[in-house]
Amino acid sequence: MGASRKAALALDETLRQTDDLVARIKAVGEHIEGRIAFSTSLGLEDQAILHAIAKSGIAKSGADKSGDVDVFTLDTGRLFPEVLETVELSELRFRLRIRLVTPEAAEVEELVARDGVFGFRHAIENRKACCEIRKVRPLNRALDGAQGWITGLRREHSDARSDVPLAAWDAERGLTKVNPVADWSTETLMDYIAANNIPVNPLHARGFVSIGCAPCTRAIQPGENPRAGRWWWENEEKKECGLHVNENGKEKEKAA
Ligand code: ADX
Ligand code: SF4
Repeated sequence: MGASRKAALALDETLRQTDDLVARIKAVGEHIEGRIAFSTSLGLEDQAILHAIAKSGIAKSGADKSGDVDVFTLDTGRLFPEVLETVELSELRFRLRIRLVTPEAAEVEELVARDGVFGFRHAIENRKACCEIRKVRPLNRALDGAQGWITGLRREHSDARSDVPLAAWDAERGLTKVNPVADWSTETLMDYIAANNIPVNPLHARGFVSIGCAPCTRAIQPGENPRAGRWWWENEEKKECGLHVNENGKEKEKAA
């Protein structure tokens, strides 16, 4: 077992010792040397994590950015305006910058010229191509050189995510992927948000739960699966955009 995989397992073990999110984030800062990137979609989980990052003090401000947390969102060009409003509100509240990572303009132009402006509705291949260009490639760029990657994945999201670990070595990317609220229930998450008066996307009050790009997200009815409003015209098992191909922790073995 390589040193990096071993270190990720040690971090997972440490994170399991506490439910306290700020303590978990501090442990992430202590265990991972080098750049830590936090991908946020401004979802409920991400807002709780952002609060904990700000409170933990591991997101430094000022000139010395070494060891800082790089907070970014993938600005696909198709986000709801409410997401950008939540970016602004969160920056002011937590006094940090949320970097907007954009796709390559030429790739988007080519895609839209080929498939049309809503081409992703017409075939699953088109949808995957759109997610690849607008999300996956920009994500890869944003994670390049990072040693740690924090996400808001939770086991309750779907069957495909039911095994998501708190921390694991991501051999494909060569970094430790950390899912600090993986084991939280929706109730724990909502209590944390209320107790800390954390700003959330106003769309949640209008029945939206899991929020992605505007044309690919709808509100859901009470009792529906939390991800039922994402790519609702597709089969359940295909509904991932490719950001989290390893979310079940069964990533390929590679020398670490
Ligand atoms: S997705 O793969 O279906 O789009 P989901 O919306 O459940 O993912 O979010 C899970 C996690 O993926 C978020 O907590 C965040 O870490 C990351 N993520 C999803 N969408 C974005 C985005 N637009 N920008 C940055 N991170 C994102
Ligand atoms: Fe394109 Fe929809 Fe994927 Fe956004 S969620 S990148 S609009 S296919």
